[in-house]
Amino acid sequence: MTRPRIVIGNWKMNPLTPAAATTLATAVAREAGRVVRVGVAPPALFIPVVAEVLRETRVGIYAQDVSAEEKGAFTGQIAATMLTSYVNGTLVGHSEARRYLGDDDERVAKKLIQVLRAGLEAVLCIGEREDEFDAGATEDVLAAQLGAPLHALSESDRDGRMTERFVIAYEPVWAIGTGRPATGEHATAATKTIRRVLEEDGGIDGDAIPILYGGSVTASGAIEFAKAEGIDGALVGGASLKAEEFAGIVRAFA
Ligand code: 13P
Repeated sequence: MTRPRIVIGNWKMNPLTPAAATTLATAVAREAGRVVRVGVAPPALFIPVVAEVLRETRVGIYAQDVSAEEKGAFTGQIAATMLTSYVNGTLVGHSEARRYLGDDDERVAKKLIQVLRAGLEAVLCIGEREDEFDAGATEDVLAAQLGAPLHALSESDRDGRMTERFVIAYEPVWAIGTGRPATGEHATAATKTIRRVLEEDGGIDGDAIPILYGGSVTASGAIEFAKAEGIDGALVGGASLKAEEFAGIVRAFA
């Protein structure tokens, strides 16, 4: 099974102006290359301007988050259907949305279904916290985080087509923004757990689902993950804000 190689830059709450977002998107497009699927996830407010900049390029656009609801009285939220005019897909369940916005596995599962129903690609983010890593509980945490999403998928994905747009990002929380990435070996072990759970608990062919690694990926450190068995790409935070550094990561996966 050949899976696509995918590198996505999650800009988080950066940069602070539409002009800076435009500049960054232009530089990413210039450096993107052809082998790897490259994407950026700008702040929601800047998605339209970045989409305009990237219109004729091969760089995909992702949202960072989406509402769990379809439409209606949900002040401050953005529906998956609204995103379809601008983006290829969206992240769901990022650890920062879990931590600061109160996303739990049930809400993440609802978001996942909204996204896939809207015809978008969903990048489901999962990963253990430091205390869970220290306790050797990574496998259990990944299985638990996949539980509600896989249950929701089994109820909604009648013809199995939704999983064609399903990507998983393994992001150990202790590696995010710490300058302390996981080892390739740990990431590979996580992919094995994830693919086993996809098959056993979700009836999904795990070999068909791309798994990205995220957490302190840099241009110099990316090769370890590019070579790691089972890892198909990267979800990059801080290093995606510098176009050249991000390009180095993309090249490592090419
Ligand atoms: P860093 O690359 O800054 O560690 O962030 C990773 C991340 O959270 C990407 O979604």
